[in-house]
Amino acid sequence: MTDIVRVDLAGRSYDIRIGPGLITEAGAHVGLLLPRPFTVIVTDETVAGLHLAPLRAGLAAAGIAAEAIVLPPGEATKSMARLAQVVERLLELKVERDDLIIALGGGVIGDLAGFAAAVTRRGIDFIQVPTTLLAQVDSSVGGKTGVNAPQGKNLIGAFHQPKLVLADIAALDTLAPCDFLAGYGEVVKYGCLGDAMFFGWLEKMGPAMLAGDAEARAHAVRRSCEMKAEIVARDEHERGERALLNLGHTFGHALEAATGYSGRLLHGEGVAIGMTLAFEVSARMGTCAQEDPSRLRAHLAAMGMKKDLADIPGDLPDAEGLIALMHQDKKVRQGKLTFILARGIGEAFVEREVDLAVVGRVLEEGLRGR
Ligand SMILES: NC(=O)c1ccc[n+]([C@@H]2O[C@H](COP(=O)([O-])OP(=O)(O)OC[C@H]3O[C@@H](n4cnc5c(N)ncnc54)[C@H](O)[C@@H]3O)[C@@H](O)[C@H]2O)c1
Repeated sequence: MTDIVRVDLAGRSYDIRIGPGLITEAGAHVGLLLPRPFTVIVTDETVAGLHLAPLRAGLAAAGIAAEAIVLPPGEATKSMARLAQVVERLLELKVERDDLIIALGGGVIGDLAGFAAAVTRRGIDFIQVPTTLLAQVDSSVGGKTGVNAPQGKNLIGAFHQPKLVLADIAALDTLAPCDFLAGYGEVVKYGCLGDAMFFGWLEKMGPAMLAGDAEARAHAVRRSCEMKAEIVARDEHERGERALLNLGHTFGHALEAATGYSGRLLHGEGVAIGMTLAFEVSARMGTCAQEDPSRLRAHLAAMGMKKDLADIPGDLPDAEGLIALMHQDKKVRQGKLTFILARGIGEAFVEREVDLAVVGRVLEEGLRGR
């Protein structure tokens, strides 16, 4: 069974197809969009070993020839150097203005390949075939593409919407549990920011999702994509509401920077800890109930996830150092940080007037717990 979620953006609208087996059926979906039976797949070594041959076979079944650009896995690949490598290879392969490339992988590959598509020949089209939970529920949808800078994450990039997203639920079967859980942090984010019922469903079904229940996974991916698609359709370029999707990210990005974008803390883990910190700040500021941060923590703990600063191995900067790292955030306006806070589980809001002393105290307490 394939579900379809539409991202409604006038001339740039596209479908997100969600279901098992989409990689092997890719030719049927991709072929309709190609001007000639040729494409280039950008992927990483790990994903290539698992899913490149089935994708190639799926394309070949529809008579589509595919070249592949295979990069090392990991966040370090989202760099200007790798971007140059991909763009130059696309030009060597004589990719034309009307051709379309495929990003096969997690958020790293999707962000990098999408940005390469945005700048090659001033913009070619691309398709997202997300293979991590994080990429299926978040990064493949909405058109944010880019690479990291030494100064911070995602500081170089462009909005470039894909033509199609094929979220093959079966691809998640090969994902390491830690990568599954990192993506699960983003799923929880949707419940926290806008759908308390979905959060309740996750409290019940999260363990089944982790154990491999394909129907539960498909439901969670669909609900997450629906929420993201609705928000993106209303605010494509993040002038307002789209910022809600950054719940937990101002803290999370600072923690990722503090840990050197390494395996010490995956992006989704940073987001999960960032969300508990955002709820803690909200509770201190009196916008949400004291119980909300504890309920969120309890669910993350039940899933075996990192939930507190204390769960991050190794040294961390002090509260002041973490706040300094937060100032690299893209949402900083006139030197002021933007926070996404909550009125409760299922109701987030954008707040530009946060007392940094409160943030500092929440961070200090979290660091003392280490
Ligand atoms: N563009 C956006 O809107 C957006 C939103 C959220 C996050 N992001 C970005 O996404 C990135 C993180 O994405 P990610 O968590 O998918 O990381 P990732 O792309 O690094 O993938 C995680 C790991 O899983 C492996 N992998 C991927 N699919 C697999 C599969 N099916 N089976 C086995 N292994 C597989 C990869 O090789 C990698 O080692 C970050 O750079 C973050 O900034 C972007």
